[in-house]
Amino acid sequence: MAIVLLTSVHTMAQKTLVTATKGKFLIGVAVNAQQVNGVNPIETELIVKEFSAIVAENCMKPQTIHPEENKYNWNDADKFVAFGEKNKQIVTGHCLIWHSQIGRWFFIDADGKDVTPEVLKERMRQHITAVVGRYKGRVKGWDVINEVFEDDGTYRDSKFYQILGKDYVKFAFQFAHEADPNAELYYNDYNVEKPAKCDAIVELVKGLRAEGYRIDAVGSQAHMHMNSPTFDETETSLKKIKAAGVKVLITEWDISILPSPYEGANISVNFKYSKEMDPYREGVPDSIQQKWNKRMLDMFGLFLKYNEVVDRVTIWGLTDNTTWLNNFPIRGRKDYPMLFDRNNQRKPVVDEMIKMSKI
Ligand code: G3I
Repeated sequence: MAIVLLTSVHTMAQKTLVTATKGKFLIGVAVNAQQVNGVNPIETELIVKEFSAIVAENCMKPQTIHPEENKYNWNDADKFVAFGEKNKQIVTGHCLIWHSQIGRWFFIDADGKDVTPEVLKERMRQHITAVVGRYKGRVKGWDVINEVFEDDGTYRDSKFYQILGKDYVKFAFQFAHEADPNAELYYNDYNVEKPAKCDAIVELVKGLRAEGYRIDAVGSQAHMHMNSPTFDETETSLKKIKAAGVKVLITEWDISILPSPYEGANISVNFKYSKEMDPYREGVPDSIQQKWNKRMLDMFGLFLKYNEVVDRVTIWGLTDNTTWLNNFPIRGRKDYPMLFDRNNQRKPVVDEMIKMSKI
């Protein structure tokens, strides 16, 4: 009897998105430092079992990994890469150059003045060479550059742009390629669904490729809300990137169920807390949950439809407990954007996604 029971449990083992989407795209998850350090074994088990790819949520960002000119913090990043290797997961590095989460030292000299273009270029070279070089052959691809454009398609007025102009983008791709010629290189941004931003990205990608720079994919972060972006805007962005001749990666997918005063993922944006903006503290009403499920399935169906160019779909976090959206763009709310709930239980929507994947 015991044997029969064991067998039936075994054969009823839950299917995963990893197996269901095999041959279509990778299923990734952003992992945080606690998870890499095995603080919560249940979370570790879910990451290993339910995902075929991992990306570092924070531990490879410039500010974390390179907080001072001659100081690198490799500890968590080393563990993160080793974690992926041990569990046979595809490892993505995030992110080499970003205007945010980067030490102020990067842009200033000993007098606190902006460095010259030559100095900034050299700092970029050293940073990228050190980080990419350390994990050469072990990281499949890098988010080389993050969030260059504003939503209207103009260049973001970042320190990189102010000091080096548009060319800083080229330098980043050049240095990354030199440090690991076999690594894939990606451009990554949020609100890629906004037409003007998407057009600017496509133009950049085409220009870089025409000049011989390696760029393998556009990463569409896909931080979504209940009403935006629309299905059509999302599909149009996939079509445009496909037409540019590069792959698409859905790099940071989540759908916030909460009302939002802001569409975007600029981490410096912050709004005041109010109870009206945090309506589901005691749980999500069924009608709203159904709407969220439908939106997840609509978008996932779209990614499946474009699977010949969509190489990976990565969820930006594991459980509703650990999602960054509990603190953005308003701190201290209770959001429900992940595939796993606050008790580490897989949500029913995942079974629906698995069914869809097999068609
Ligand atoms: O680690 C410290 C902790 O020691 C301290 O007690 C605590 C107090 O606030 O802060 C902790 O650091 C936080 C870190 O996440 C780790 O939890 C930072 O304040 C917080 O700003 C940081 O937020 C991250 C954010 O990027 C900025 O780096 C989010 O976790 C992360 O999900 C988010 O990810 C970005 C992508 O990299 C790029 N695309 C947008 C996406 C969402 O903003």
